[in-house]
Amino acid sequence: TRVAIVFGGRSTEHAISCVSAGAILGALDPDQYEAVPVGITREGRWVLAAGDPAQLAISGTRLPEITASSGNSVVLGAGELLVRDPAEGMSELAGVDVVFPVLHGAYGEDGTIQGMLEMAGIPYVGANVFASAAAMDKEFTKKLAAVEGIPVGPYVVLRAGVSLSEADKERLGLPVFVKPSRAGSSTGITKVTDWADLDAAIATARQIDPKVLVEAAIVGREIECGVLEGENGGAPSASLLAEIHVDDADWYDFETKYLVGSRYTIPAALSAEVTKRVQEYALRTFTALDCAGLARVDFFVTADGEIFLNEINTMPGMTPTSMFPQMWAATGLEYPKVVDRLIRTALH
Ligand code: DAL
Ligand code: MG
Repeated sequence: TRVAIVFGGRSTEHAISCVSAGAILGALDPDQYEAVPVGITREGRWVLAAGDPAQLAISGTRLPEITASSGNSVVLGAGELLVRDPAEGMSELAGVDVVFPVLHGAYGEDGTIQGMLEMAGIPYVGANVFASAAAMDKEFTKKLAAVEGIPVGPYVVLRAGVSLSEADKERLGLPVFVKPSRAGSSTGITKVTDWADLDAAIATARQIDPKVLVEAAIVGREIECGVLEGENGGAPSASLLAEIHVDDADWYDFETKYLVGSRYTIPAALSAEVTKRVQEYALRTFTALDCAGLARVDFFVTADGEIFLNEINTMPGMTPTSMFPQMWAATGLEYPKVVDRLIRTALH
């Protein structure tokens, strides 16, 4: 089975995608799968056989990046992946059996590459066009989840040019988190503890997405759940839960996620009853958004056991330290088995 691993990309999570892809390339069983690594530069150029997996790791504070000179430098226009009758030099990409779009954020996790693959009739790992787009956008995630009875915290959507009203400030209270509606890995997010800093925070978020969310800070524990699509069309399953401890960091920002690292506990020390409810909410969110393949669903759990959906990721981080693979390993599915299952469900 030929698997194109597509990674990098135009989003703010380019580097994290490279790290995820490096781990997946390392986990593919070579007896079963022939990997075709396809990097996408920050400018959107496609690069074949983009570098050796060792280049795809974070070293110190250096983040990996795909450039037109990475790997063997066959630079393609977007979409040439789809050429079924390839000109010489592009044959590596012709006739892959399945694509694993290991892309986080815009132009990859948001339905765009999924649409391209649908049009070309190429099977791919993960959520379809609609689910990818809905899950990428924190506004629509909350709206769809809420109608399914999944609790979401107080928030306000600020479309381009709009700022927060006094009434909304009163309702949300401080602190608030200001987020680009469509982004990931905490990029563009600011915690605001003084309204005087709000406009700067909105401007920061708008550098990534003109649509911004202002969310009331929920005082609670940071709890995550992995979901995998069922095998052979069966019901999806939920992993054991993880709790993130940000310790000295104020919140779970980019540095804490990838550079400093954070402690976590799997399974999270929660009562059996709260655990079960979080898992149910995770599965219900997966279904509410029509997800496929995989997702990581993130929650806050308050001291009195109230649960709030934070967000869902349809292509969660797959780096060696990422929560999704760790949660599944603890549940009994090691990383290579997760990757194998994802490819098999994509082909099913
Ligand atoms: N958006 C990052 C990759 C995650 O959810 O893990
Ligand atoms: Mg995310």
